[in-house]
Amino acid sequence: MATDKLQRPVVITGGARRIGLALARHFLARGQAVILSYRNSWPALEQLRQDGACCLEADFSSDSGILDFAARVAQRADGLRAIIHNASSWQAETPDVAPQETLKQMLQIHVHAPYLLNLQLGSLLCGYGQGASDIIHFTDYVVERGSDKHIAYAASKAALDNLTRSFARKYAPQVKVNAIAPSLILFNDDDDEEYRRRALDKSLMKIAPGEQEIILLIDYLLQSRYVTGRTHAVDGGRPLR
Ligand SMILES: NC(=O)c1ccc[n+]([C@@H]2O[C@H](COP(=O)([O-])OP(=O)(O)OC[C@H]3O[C@@H](n4cnc5c(N)ncnc54)[C@H](OP(=O)(O)O)[C@@H]3O)[C@@H](O)[C@H]2O)c1
Repeated sequence: MATDKLQRPVVITGGARRIGLALARHFLARGQAVILSYRNSWPALEQLRQDGACCLEADFSSDSGILDFAARVAQRADGLRAIIHNASSWQAETPDVAPQETLKQMLQIHVHAPYLLNLQLGSLLCGYGQGASDIIHFTDYVVERGSDKHIAYAASKAALDNLTRSFARKYAPQVKVNAIAPSLILFNDDDDEEYRRRALDKSLMKIAPGEQEIILLIDYLLQSRYVTGRTHAVDGGRPLR
């Protein structure tokens, strides 16, 4: 029934951990409705549900999984405030996995998912006025530099970066479409001391700044009525090193 639908939620893919989780909590604390996707049952989900998030299990490893998620979002939302494409997989090339499989998986999560979701859900972003809705793509600093260990990952994020320009053109002037290109934001729990030291030394600012830097930028982008079609680096000045 229409009355059960959420009022213009923000959709966050991969919203049950790390940066996606921080964003979900940020929006919920402000009273902004949230629909998030999760693949694995992370502990934070229980509290997210209690705080009002609509948490939908979704696996984007297949196109049908992506399209099914889009259909369930459309059933639950009367329109959308934003789609934040956060879901990602940082796979390196490894001898255990055929390279064509690595490439396929990277394109699936970083290109098929945003491409199909933007097309399926775009109409729900429209109708609210000039620049009133947003699509945010999470890319990566490696888009401009390439990567010797994560070649397919970097290529797929580069394709996502390009989708930013195409969807900005397609949905203007109602929807702004921007990319965020982070370098180090958060370490993984299993990163060892040597890895951490080297990673910190790669930027001018020499910190892992945490989710707040991303939240600040997303707040800015959502408040803007003019900024679209651009890639916004959050990299501590890394290209200058
Ligand atoms: N953290 C950094 O320092 C950093 C640096 C550069 C770029 N970025 C980008 O910033 C974004 C957020 O980073 P993060 O480190 O918080 O990401 P993350 O820990 O890699 O988490 C991404 C989310 O994507 C979900 N996901 C992965 N594969 C999926 C699939 N096939 N179907 C559905 N969901 C899937 C994961 O769900 P499950 O855990 O349930 O599998 C997870 O919740 C990512 O796009 C990343 O590429 C981050």
